[in-house]
Amino acid sequence: MLNKLLVPLIVLFSRASSRTASEKRLDNGVGRTPALGWNSWNQGGCNAASATVVLNTAKAFVDLGLKDLGYTYVNIDDCWSAKQRNSTGHLVADTSKFPKGIDGLAREVHAMGLKLGLYGDAGTQTCALYPGSYGSEQKDADTLAAWGVDYWKFDNCLTEQVYTNKGIKSQQYYPIMRDALLKTGRPILFSICQWGRDEVWTWGGKVGNSWRMSEDIQNNWASVSSIAARAATMYQYAAPGGFNDLDMMELGNGVLTEAEERAHFGLWAIMKSPIIMGTDMTKLKASTLNIIKNKGILAIHQDPLGKAATTFTPKGQPAPVSGKLYRYYAGPLSDGVVVGLVAADGAETLTVNFSDVPGLGAGSFTWTELYSGRNGTGTSVSQRLATHDMAVFKVVTHV
Ligand code: GAL
Repeated sequence: MLNKLLVPLIVLFSRASSRTASEKRLDNGVGRTPALGWNSWNQGGCNAASATVVLNTAKAFVDLGLKDLGYTYVNIDDCWSAKQRNSTGHLVADTSKFPKGIDGLAREVHAMGLKLGLYGDAGTQTCALYPGSYGSEQKDADTLAAWGVDYWKFDNCLTEQVYTNKGIKSQQYYPIMRDALLKTGRPILFSICQWGRDEVWTWGGKVGNSWRMSEDIQNNWASVSSIAARAATMYQYAAPGGFNDLDMMELGNGVLTEAEERAHFGLWAIMKSPIIMGTDMTKLKASTLNIIKNKGILAIHQDPLGKAATTFTPKGQPAPVSGKLYRYYAGPLSDGVVVGLVAADGAETLTVNFSDVPGLGAGSFTWTELYSGRNGTGTSVSQRLATHDMAVFKVVTHV
């Protein structure tokens, strides 16, 4: 009799507790700090999705010293697969682009000490009309695990017929792939790409290691600055295991000035976005390489505390305006505070009193500007900046 009562009760409680567990932030063993790497899309769209380009990138990561600085993921975007699944319903690589398959390529990339990423879609087809994972989520997750894939970017095209027109929201269908990936037992970084729909930043941490918070980045300053302006308002959702994804980098693509490249990289780093390069890594200009190899800024990006910087308003300054890039940023680090200054409107000298900075206060602090290496100790700091340039200060308590 007792057993008859207890069993349903136990079942009830264990269901409830597993539901509670699924409400927690994703803990799949990867993505504790924001991802660092490269993706084919901003470099060349479908044309850059090939084994040759991937291997050239991986070699460049090693040869340029980027691998040693933490650049790890080499990711293939849309257009890597055959147009149809095979007779058993499995995804297959386009062998004209990937002669050794994705598994063969993964072995080569792993042998170089790097990790391989791949792209898929929650709907019936990807944005470039290759097979999507709708209805085949576990089969595809198992395929990724069998191939040795380490990172899965999951897009949101062609979801209307099967989900959104029926009122099914992305917070309901993205967990299907999360659970399928977890079930494989292979730690695969899960990168949510649904363009900031359904306020993804409020629930993305339970589902993925990163979530795109905007439409696609474009190769111009207006796009870079408007994404950064928006991302600053959702800083509180970034934490180890899950981060706002401000989209892939446009450094190296010939439009941004050197100053704008510094701001693009610096803002993505202090806001803890994945930094996924999107250019031909074999053709980088010295100035771009110099920016992306900045050890101090990379250390801030990879700081184990995993908290994102946001805007602060110094006394006497106007408050941020929605959608417009602001000048003053700060965020906590495990060993200090990062302060960012951006010449958002034009060349100017910007000054910060440390007493206005959240996490600092009265007294004297030691600072280093990480792009120039300039350093000092005091109660404030000033820097002359060219149009759209950025200074990134690491500030520590003066002892
Ligand atoms: C978009 C996505 C891009 C890229 C592209 C490929 O939806 O936001 O980052 O992956 O699809 O078709």
